[in-house]
Amino acid sequence: MKIFVTGGAGFIGRHLVESLNHGNEVTIFENFSNSSKQEISNLLQDGVTLVQGDLTDRDLLKKVVRDYDLVIHLAAKIDIKESIKNPHLSNEINVKGTINLLKACVDNSILKFIAASSASIYGDPEVIPVTEETVPNPISPYAADKLAMESYVHAFANTFKMNSISLRFFNVYGKSQSNAYAGVITKFMQRIASNKPLIVFGDGKNTRDYIHIKDLVQGISKAIDHIDGKKGRTYNIATGKSVSINELAELMISISGKNLEIQHDPPREGDLRFSEANIQRAIDELNYQPNITLKEGLSKLLLNR
Ligand SMILES: NC(=O)c1ccc[n+]([C@@H]2O[C@H](COP(=O)([O-])OP(=O)(O)OC[C@H]3O[C@@H](n4cnc5c(N)ncnc54)[C@H](O)[C@@H]3O)[C@@H](O)[C@H]2O)c1
Repeated sequence: MKIFVTGGAGFIGRHLVESLNHGNEVTIFENFSNSSKQEISNLLQDGVTLVQGDLTDRDLLKKVVRDYDLVIHLAAKIDIKESIKNPHLSNEINVKGTINLLKACVDNSILKFIAASSASIYGDPEVIPVTEETVPNPISPYAADKLAMESYVHAFANTFKMNSISLRFFNVYGKSQSNAYAGVITKFMQRIASNKPLIVFGDGKNTRDYIHIKDLVQGISKAIDHIDGKKGRTYNIATGKSVSINELAELMISISGKNLEIQHDPPREGDLRFSEANIQRAIDELNYQPNITLKEGLSKLLLNR
């Protein structure tokens, strides 16, 4: 299969492209705003093609998104705080950039499209675990962009007979996550490496559903296998199990084997309380099955196995 991956040099993209590159012809589309060419040098050596460009460049997209069987759209501005400061820019890339890409696909008769959405569209849900039927409640421009993006993916499927899926990723962790926007797992790892106490904001009872990058890549691969007939259908891609930040900190300290403290600092404004996915739809319809426990995934990461 010929596959075009936007944002393919990013954290998720690098892992995905590495996995897809066995048995497929893969092209990465990138502007390297949050990654570098150096980070994909091994992939380029292994035959992956690179098109350097920006999602805002409609003419370029129309020219280069040609003769592919499938487009996987990962490129986005992912910094929530930046989206609050500059919602226009966030919208320009995350929504209009997606429309540019969808239109280039339609113009070139590419009718399979998978988009990376986010658990952030649920906001701070009253009832967990969230299903795909939970009413979205975006509480940042980034989350609103992702929801709008899903709508366009859906609308293009209905209007232009595309097959498409939006995958709602929960908190992804794994090797070589970029430092700039890294979540708490990367921050805890850095504290552990320098033998410092782990800092937990607030009471640490807030929960997250952490998914290992390998399980996430499996979710995307299953979406590829089952895309026929899907019209912008949404799927939660997570583990279906959440842990509190306190539990996460304790688990990471215990895996490290070090004798480190947990330090509680004042809560941060805007931090979500609870996040946990119901993943039954992805299990039933995509045959997706996460199989890396948090303990295994963190051990791989911390002990570099
Ligand atoms: N990492 C997570 O936990 C997580 C959770 C939910 C959703 N997501 C979504 O998954 C996708 C990938 O996330 P990631 O963590 O790999 O992020 P990332 O920033 O590491 O990767 C995104 C890539 O897109 C590129 N890019 C950004 N703007 C571009 C543009 N205008 N044109 C071309 N390329 C551009 C960046 O240079 C980067 O390499 C994003 O859509 C993100 O919103 C990620």
